Amino acid sequence: MKRNFMPVILVTAIVATSCFGTSCQDKKNLTRLTDTSESAAISSYLESSVSTETPTPTETPTPTETPTPTSTPTPSPSPTPVPEYVEPIITGGPVWYNGYVDPRSVRAEVVSNPEDIAVLVNKYYTTTAEYVPELTLAKYSAGQKLRPEAAEAWEKMHDACLSEIGEDLYLISGYRDWATQTYSFNNAIPRRGLDKAVCKNAYPGRSEHPLGLALDINIKSDPEIRDNFVYTKAGKWVLEHGHEYGFIWRYPADYGHITGYGVEGWHFRYVGVEVATEMYDNNIMTLEEYYGKPQLLPDDYNE
Ligand code: DAL
Ligand code: ZN
Repeated sequence: MKRNFMPVILVTAIVATSCFGTSCQDKKNLTRLTDTSESAAISSYLESSVSTETPTPTETPTPTETPTPTSTPTPSPSPTPVPEYVEPIITGGPVWYNGYVDPRSVRAEVVSNPEDIAVLVNKYYTTTAEYVPELTLAKYSAGQKLRPEAAEAWEKMHDACLSEIGEDLYLISGYRDWATQTYSFNNAIPRRGLDKAVCKNAYPGRSEHPLGLALDINIKSDPEIRDNFVYTKAGKWVLEHGHEYGFIWRYPADYGHITGYGVEGWHFRYVGVEVATEMYDNNIMTLEEYYGKPQLLPDDYNE
């Protein structure tokens, strides 16, 4: 079922710092003033009660100069970064196959923040061959690697799933380098046909696997990618609890017109607990909707 697009406001304005500083400063000054007045009154009382001498007239204080207010410096605006693009190698406009575009026919923006655990990467937002994240060996896999944050969250989710429902989750595929992703896409074309390949296999740079944040999973006793994983006991548990560890189901059924990829019952993405929970709580099914950037469908597309 398609849902209306739900834009999400990502920008949090942090405006309180200077006001808070000012009020604290005012408070300190006030305390200082009070202290001074009190001690002056006490000294004056003591002096007047013990002294019998005629007081010498005190010197009239010279007025101090009124400080000239300094002008607040105007912050210079930081320049808007100019995005880089990867130009299409198939020219003449996007080529569509049943609602799935051939990534080689679209212009993709190079993401400026591949280190951001919630970065959006898809057919329209790409990484480069040079980008290699920090990686660590992931537990509950045959030597797969993940970004350390994702590996730690994966271990926690695995252990929770095992202790709560007795299912032993298994990581089939985590990080894939550029060469592997290139092989996977090129190999899928003759194997599946171009129409299926553009629906299932990501073109190099347009996959989340080279981010070290994507996980193809199942259970240890069935270490194969399966469309029905999300309907199994383990899969249902991950759908219900994955966000608590920072995971989202990345390519849900019936959202291919938004994500640009067909349903993948096995592919989960680490985005961090905050984003995953916000998506879960607000029933936002895709990262594209979370960022307000659904796949750009042709005008005449009707599912
Ligand atoms: N199968 C997903 C789209 C990938 O290759 O990243
Ligand atoms: Zn995957």
